[in-house]
Amino acid sequence: MKKLWSGRFTKETDARVDDFHSSISFDQRLFREDIAGSIAHATMLGEQSIISKLEAGQLVSGLRALQKDIEAGQITIGDHYEDIHMAVESLLTERIGDVAKKLHTGRSRNDQVALDFRLYTKRACDEVVAAIDALIEVLVAQSECHLQTIMPGYTHLQRAQPITLAHHLMAYAWMLERDRSRFLDAKKRMNFSPLGSGALSTSGLPLKRERVAEILGFAGITQNSLDAVSDRDFAVEFISGASITMMHLSRLCEEWILWASQEFKFIELDEGFSTGSSMMPQKKNPDVAELVRGKTGRVYGNLLGILTMLKGLPLAYNKDMQEDKEALFSAHDTLQSCLEILAPMIETTRFQVDALWAATADGFMNATEVADHLVRKGLAFREAHEVAGKAVQVAIAQGAKLEDLSAEAWKSLSPKFAEFSPDEMKEFSHALQIESAVMARTLPGGPAPAAVLQSIQILRARIKKVE
Ligand code: ARG
Repeated sequence: MKKLWSGRFTKETDARVDDFHSSISFDQRLFREDIAGSIAHATMLGEQSIISKLEAGQLVSGLRALQKDIEAGQITIGDHYEDIHMAVESLLTERIGDVAKKLHTGRSRNDQVALDFRLYTKRACDEVVAAIDALIEVLVAQSECHLQTIMPGYTHLQRAQPITLAHHLMAYAWMLERDRSRFLDAKKRMNFSPLGSGALSTSGLPLKRERVAEILGFAGITQNSLDAVSDRDFAVEFISGASITMMHLSRLCEEWILWASQEFKFIELDEGFSTGSSMMPQKKNPDVAELVRGKTGRVYGNLLGILTMLKGLPLAYNKDMQEDKEALFSAHDTLQSCLEILAPMIETTRFQVDALWAATADGFMNATEVADHLVRKGLAFREAHEVAGKAVQVAIAQGAKLEDLSAEAWKSLSPKFAEFSPDEMKEFSHALQIESAVMARTLPGGPAPAAVLQSIQILRARIKKVE
């Protein structure tokens, strides 16, 4: 096949080079963006009288028809093309003849690919945000069912202070809220059309760049042609946002895996979202969560790949940049599929409310309450902390819980207790109850049901706000 750029060559490209540098196998997924960009470009060329209105009309209707045929499977994009840009132009030429030769007027594949890839990444941001929102909704719905479900909160994976399950689940919803805002923010920065930048230095023809930007729904145009054709920050930002989101999903999955274990037994995974073992008949494995955790590495790899690919490139376009697409497509596909599988996995998870509650019984998770109570009664926190620590020591020696220690035992731990009236002593034992510890934490951002409900409302309002 004659190459569209073969004019200065006297010899065919080596077939091995054709194979090596072709990107059609992966960039054909940009066909919609490529056609949309070409329609906008042709329209503008006609409006500017760079080509005739009639020719522009022929190009536009030919491109529309081509898109329909590709979508309907009437035309398959063969792998003999160099890339999607060459494929679309060649297919258009087959369809409408010589007028197609005018399509590339004032354009280079360098600004064309920069445009297509931005359009694709903008759409990918929207898709990811929609999937994040759906996942947040599932977490919120589960939280609303478990506002009163008490469980241990951990630090160092050691029982620390009691919290509510809603509080724990909403921690992930808030991570995801930041993730969605990262994608929306990145989208704003990539929302400028590079078309008209040409190969590197724009064009001497009277193109109207703003018009192309307007047709394609961009907020404006890029302001330096060298930068515009060599910039892939938008892809880096997308993959970086994807990496952070995957890190959050991976942490959630790690907990799901732990919680599904015999050791924790905090959750029962739905059978539809677990898998068995080919050898051990009793197994019910959390493969979905494990795979999401595992796939996180792939997305980090994409990020490191694209950053490294870009770091040594002189201005402006270099063919190295063709490597950007697989990194972004892979990160997008991986993230999208992980978000979409986790939503139903979480939705169908049954929380073992009794086991969560039972796990709060041991571990002296009310030790902070002892200290806080003494602070309320005027003791300095450091002294109060010391008293509570000693109380834990006594309780361990007695094989008892803090709430089981006698009034005498408390009095011997601190003279402060000697000042307590019987009512104050009752008040103290009440404060030591696990439920009281949770319910006392009504501060904004805390685990008490009212505080969690408030944070749910704030999060919902933020998501509804149109950006
Ligand atoms: N397939 C190429 C890419 O993805 C398109 C741009 C080619 N430009 C060029 N001057 N060879 O980067």
